Amino acid sequence: MDIIIRKDAQEVGKAAAALVAPFANKGGTLGLATGSSPLSTYKELIRLYEAGEVSFKECQAFLLDEYVGLTRDDENSYFKTIRNEFTDHIDILDDQVFSPDGANPDPHAAAEEYEAMLAAQSVAVQILGIGGNGHIAFNEPTSSLSGLTKVQALHPKTVEDNARFFSSIEEVPTHALTQGLGTLSRAQNIVLVASGEGKAEAIRGTVEGPVSASCPGSILQMHNNVTIVIDEAAASKLENAEYYRLMEQLKLR
Ligand code: GLP
Repeated sequence: MDIIIRKDAQEVGKAAAALVAPFANKGGTLGLATGSSPLSTYKELIRLYEAGEVSFKECQAFLLDEYVGLTRDDENSYFKTIRNEFTDHIDILDDQVFSPDGANPDPHAAAEEYEAMLAAQSVAVQILGIGGNGHIAFNEPTSSLSGLTKVQALHPKTVEDNARFFSSIEEVPTHALTQGLGTLSRAQNIVLVASGEGKAEAIRGTVEGPVSASCPGSILQMHNNVTIVIDEAAASKLENAEYYRLMEQLKLR
């Protein structure tokens, strides 16, 4: 794992975007995450696109997850969110942005369909955020470390955290479709971004904890090409933060 520690969320976004941009320019398949964590990364990628430094025109993109029961035109669907926040502002073709079908009346069939689509792909770089309880995509604690795309009942903490996007907590869906930890681990490269003190414990478990389904992010320790890009606050519980800073300085470019 490479650990990059930056001053704040904006600097996290710049560092993460610099890692992702070369894959976009090669027309690589991108794995996209929703949530507030990757917003500064998307903002910087949009800036690079507007400056003519990156193009997504040859790329396909696959989302990590989607709420069960929301149609694609629902403002809170991840299908809509990723368009509003990122893909509508760059040159990727809209029909090349894919997500699980949360409106399928048979969510288990929707999960299988999405897994089959992903099995035919090779994701060049997967962007990830992380939940306060260590979940990645919507893989809550106890998720199989090798699991495939599935229907996930959401942890009450996740429902509470995500309620800020809805008019009331009762409107937050109880279930989501999510790539499994095994599915997302097939990406060739993974860039996880996090900022704020609320993520410090999840980052500690992901980077320094034992590999455990209790902290799904810790599965990333098994992956060969992972970069964790975090701000000072999210890094505040890392025991070996000084060593990670030194390692970044010593890294051969
Ligand atoms: C949701 C998403 C995750 C995301 C997490 C953290 O549950 N499914 O992909 O990483 O929230 O969200 P935020 O970045 O808004 O804190």
